[in-house]
Amino acid sequence: MKSDKPLNRVEQLFNVSLNDVQNIVKAFHLEMKRGLSGRKSSLKMIPTYVDRPTGNENGKFIALDFGGTNFRILELELKGGRKTNPLKIMKFVLNKRLIKGTANDFFGFIAGCLKNFLEKRKVGIGEERNLGFTFSFPVKQTGTAAGTLVCWTKGFSVKGVMGKDVVGLLSEALARKGITNVKISALVNDTVGTLAAESYEDQNCDIGIILGTGTNACYVEELPNITKWHGPETRTNRMIVNIEWGNFNKLRLTSYDKRLDKASDNPGQQILEKMVSGMYLGEVARLVLIDLISKYLLFSDSGTGIFNKTGSFKTEHMSIIEDDESGDLTSIRTLLKKLNIPKSTLDERRTIKKTCEIVSLRGARVSAACLAAIITKMDPDLFRYHMVAIDGSVYEKHPSFSRNMKSCLQEIFGARSSRIKMVLAKDGSGKGAAVIAAVAASMQY
Ligand code: GLC
Repeated sequence: MKSDKPLNRVEQLFNVSLNDVQNIVKAFHLEMKRGLSGRKSSLKMIPTYVDRPTGNENGKFIALDFGGTNFRILELELKGGRKTNPLKIMKFVLNKRLIKGTANDFFGFIAGCLKNFLEKRKVGIGEERNLGFTFSFPVKQTGTAAGTLVCWTKGFSVKGVMGKDVVGLLSEALARKGITNVKISALVNDTVGTLAAESYEDQNCDIGIILGTGTNACYVEELPNITKWHGPETRTNRMIVNIEWGNFNKLRLTSYDKRLDKASDNPGQQILEKMVSGMYLGEVARLVLIDLISKYLLFSDSGTGIFNKTGSFKTEHMSIIEDDESGDLTSIRTLLKKLNIPKSTLDERRTIKKTCEIVSLRGARVSAACLAAIITKMDPDLFRYHMVAIDGSVYEKHPSFSRNMKSCLQEIFGARSSRIKMVLAKDGSGKGAAVIAAVAASMQY
């Protein structure tokens, strides 16, 4: 390596100091309040119409969990007494063409998969089922089972869906496939599903987060604080609010972030998501690496490999790189070979590892700051115990992400941070859709 200076500069650019964290918390509070009152805000603060489950809901439910190119259909039996029977899950992959195609083809495909699932699970025509539909995009809910798509995120752009009721579109597709025994009784965001699934089992759970391809959070708010809400009261006078935190934009951007945003499908939007989520972390790191390559800090002998190509360096690659604890960084060497860099020096591999660490550390600290903001909005002195249900590949699989979030919370709250428990809620979004379908079935509206 010629000099450490460019890398030190990158480290400074991406550093999120405790002071930065505190500023994020303040800005996040302001945006939350604006969003809750219906004023313009980067946080949509979407009322979901539902409260947390009581834990006594019961019955057999189907959930359709859709939020990326993979989607799942599940069957869940709630037993009451905070107990459930094991899930039955089928996974499907969405063809890349469908995510940029027409609404008809898109919902038709989903309905076809459901038909397949019902046949395999031997759910007969005479057996009625309520379905919870997890649709993990910004949706303005207009009822427990109704909502219009505000905008696509995560690279989706199916035509003819924006501004339309997605439950209506799915119901029509079910009818076209002759599915008459399934009623869509809840429309759920994946964060809400995650919170619902965990709080069905433990009532202390009051925040749900997704840190995966996209990122978002929801929490439980007192109804009088949602001043834009003019609907009926709920069971405990509280409601789950889908924050859509991925769009938070009161953040300091580096030139790399600006470049990524400009070249994205949705410039100016989902700014936090572009710093934190699996869809973008790898690309941020690639932009930094390309810069280091051009400054001759890296690979002066072996060319740029795949690094010149947008989107070619994935967040999964970052996980492999950061996971390599071997003295010679052997897994990194093997990975680089696969990425068309046949030769690398130990110094170069160290630089790559450090770069990935810098980028993912920022993501974890920014996420922790936003989480701290939600907690202190609900409970300014951190008086109570809070369980945070988190799902998603970045949180689950990236080696340092959860650790870095936790240590940032410790910096912010000191010893009181032990009152915050982050739990991995696997399959939460689908399971929770079934739980919300049960909550919705017990409500009047
Ligand atoms: C995107 C979507 C949001 C979803 C998140 C995680 O940010 O807009 O609705 O919850 O991804 O899947």
